[in-house]
Amino acid sequence: MKILGSIFILLMIMITTGTTAATESPFACDALNPSTNSYIFCNISLPISERVANLISLLTLEEKIGHLGNTAPAIRRLGIPSYEWWSEALHGVSNKGLGIRFDGLIRSATSFPQVILTAASFDTHIWYRIGQAIGIEARAVYNAGQASGMTFWAPNINIFRDPRWGRGQETPGEDPMVTSKYAVSYVRGIQGDSFEGGKINDDNKHILQASACCKHFTAYDLDNWNGYTRYNFDAHVSLKDLADTYQPPFKSCVEEGKASGLMCAYNRVNGVPSCADFNFLTNTIRGKWGFNGYITSDSDSVSTIYTNQSYSKTPEELVGEVLRAGMDVNCAACGEEYCDSFLQAHTRSAIHQKKVSEVDINRALSNLFTTRMRLGLFNGNPIQQQFGAIGPSHVCSANHQTLALEAARDGIVLLKNAGKLLPLSKSETQTIAVIGPNANNVQTLTGNYNGPPCKSVTPVEALKSYVRDTLYHPGCDAVPCNSLAMNEAVELAKSVDYVIMIMGLDQTQEREEFDRIDLVLPGKQQHLISRVAKAAKKPVILVLLSGGPIDISFAKDDRNVGSIIWAGYPGEAGGIALAEIIFGDQNPGGRLPVTWYPQEFTNIPMTDMRMRADSATAYPGRTYRFYKGRKVFDFGYGLSYSTYLYEFVNVNRKTIYLNRFTNILAINDKISTNFLSVSEVGTDYCEKLKFSVTIGVKNSGVMSGKHPVLLFARQTQIKVGSPIIQLIGFQTVKTGAGERSEVEFVVSPCEHLSKADENGLMVIEEGSYLLAVGEIEYEISIIFETILGIKYPQMTNM
Ligand SMILES: *[C@@H]1O[C@H](CO)[C@@H](O)[C@H](O)[C@H]1NC(C)=O
Ligand SMILES: *[C@@H]1O[C@H](CO)[C@@H](O)[C@H](O)[C@H]1NC(C)=O
Repeated sequence: MKILGSIFILLMIMITTGTTAATESPFACDALNPSTNSYIFCNISLPISERVANLISLLTLEEKIGHLGNTAPAIRRLGIPSYEWWSEALHGVSNKGLGIRFDGLIRSATSFPQVILTAASFDTHIWYRIGQAIGIEARAVYNAGQASGMTFWAPNINIFRDPRWGRGQETPGEDPMVTSKYAVSYVRGIQGDSFEGGKINDDNKHILQASACCKHFTAYDLDNWNGYTRYNFDAHVSLKDLADTYQPPFKSCVEEGKASGLMCAYNRVNGVPSCADFNFLTNTIRGKWGFNGYITSDSDSVSTIYTNQSYSKTPEELVGEVLRAGMDVNCAACGEEYCDSFLQAHTRSAIHQKKVSEVDINRALSNLFTTRMRLGLFNGNPIQQQFGAIGPSHVCSANHQTLALEAARDGIVLLKNAGKLLPLSKSETQTIAVIGPNANNVQTLTGNYNGPPCKSVTPVEALKSYVRDTLYHPGCDAVPCNSLAMNEAVELAKSVDYVIMIMGLDQTQEREEFDRIDLVLPGKQQHLISRVAKAAKKPVILVLLSGGPIDISFAKDDRNVGSIIWAGYPGEAGGIALAEIIFGDQNPGGRLPVTWYPQEFTNIPMTDMRMRADSATAYPGRTYRFYKGRKVFDFGYGLSYSTYLYEFVNVNRKTIYLNRFTNILAINDKISTNFLSVSEVGTDYCEKLKFSVTIGVKNSGVMSGKHPVLLFARQTQIKVGSPIIQLIGFQTVKTGAGERSEVEFVVSPCEHLSKADENGLMVIEEGSYLLAVGEIEYEISIIFETILGIKYPQMTNM
């Protein structure tokens, strides 16, 4: 791959010096290749479907089989270079896959906060802008000859179902709607569409900036717990939970985001491995949702189906299963070494044994080459194309680095601020002590699936720029905190004006293939915090770095801990954002994207996929939508240095009438007459039912700020299986001290006031509903009328 990079540079030199010696090109359909004009697949005036069909018709069976793995070899006789499907860009362009190399002019990339913190801003625009920045940097790396692929395996949009999950940090949290909106924003940004969606053209002029991949389909949120691993786990998921929790983010990612990639997960869902599930991959994703991209396996997940799930009798049968199901490419996790994937190794014999036909292989290749062509990789020199002007100066640009800072500022959540301890006064704070194993570590800030950051400032360094007399001690040996330097930490705490403790988790505690066992702080961290807090002159400020939630009830209740801040893994600029918030240059506005459960939640088996509580078995349910137990902090919780007052200014419909008549006819007696299915109401009528809600927001504090307004809905009487409450919209307001602003939400009863029934159908229930923002609520009702012979009655507005 290094050789490829140097050939590219050599070629660029030759182009600029006017030399046209024939040499292997790093891109297909190179104008300098005399054969290019004769290849139909290189003719950019033709539709991509024709070009792809032509290309596949030229390939031998051997060549086709070679292309079923993540590292697709070059086809030299057709001037096609090798291609690497596996690249990563979870929160910045990363070299954790095989496609990106930071070994040329570009040595680093902007490292945005880990996704869980970015989600806490509840701001779709910032999510979009981050996606956009990543797409631009990815193109720059490609144009500089340092990428052998433009397909990025992000976003991770599995629901953060269990607080122990080691990869929860990679996700936008536990709410299906937040996750859906994150997916759409990120995908539109990275692929080069407008915020509103623009148009993904299949024509030849508009190309994908970079390709996103919604992963991991589906119901994957357990890595390694109590002998269960993602490789052997069979997730038992009800149709109900599938419909209103697990699937919505994938549906949105495909239908609205128009993602060009999708990854099937390791685990089985109700007995069927995701990558071998025809019903999911072909019927649902391609059929119902209209997906037109490629589907990759997770790393080695095809061989896992064979060796760890014993799903097929022979490797050849499995080849047939996954290709017929609709999977297109098999990632093999071979690290730096090239190796055959399961499909590359077994498809030949599968053909001989008639377990798979060449037609199935052509179908997969068609999706693969279509994606490469949509990326413009068969249009000749990328420098002369749509994104050709994007160069190394676009990577780590001032704009992108400021955006990384903005994202960290907007995401950081203030959890406790007793006696308005924060913000600290810049003029009156003479000395501070920063204590904790997370205070001075660059690595921790960037979470996982990271790339080399442009630059990094640790929290200690950032705090030093506010207070020259900043003293630092790690307190523990490291994050696992098995040994303490208690006396030194206590003595230090006694000697200064204020103590800031920077504690929490890192990748030793939560990561891929490693779920937590406990929700409390690791090792002796709690002991250190309590002792230092007791010794300090004033209540201490506790900062937690973590992806997943931590049970810090002890600190919440400890009067010596004045303030608590959660800063996720805040990325390259996170240290600066944290210092700005502590010293009041920024007003925190982040809100928790997950429920913070208490330690006793770990009594629940992580393998229990049920979202809904079950009182018969004392199962408490999961996430704010269904969990009925004690909480440390609620989903959506987050303080500010200001106070915000809400009012319902206008709700333009108080009663929603639906006609029961047509639905009784359609559904017969299968469904209680208290329910109408959304599909029966119909898209057009659902559209007509939408109404607007205007909320006034007053910043009654003394500081300007950015504040996400979260609109919830709930049924007045909560029935078994209904969400307790449900987020239905979120929007950000920016207000100065004392200023008032208004935000408008559009509520769609079909989308926002519906829930899944036993068959996974979305239904609307008759009855009274409350819209809720902060502490205030507004009642609306849905009434079914039986008016024979009239399809839809007039709606009555209030
Ligand atoms: C490319 O296709 C167009 C449309 O069919 C055709 O008019 C043109 O001659 C083709 N170009 C080449 C170089 O074959
Ligand atoms: C999967 O199966 C292989 C072969 O039996 C075994 O070596 C490996 O440990 C298994 N992996 C897991 C995670 O169960």
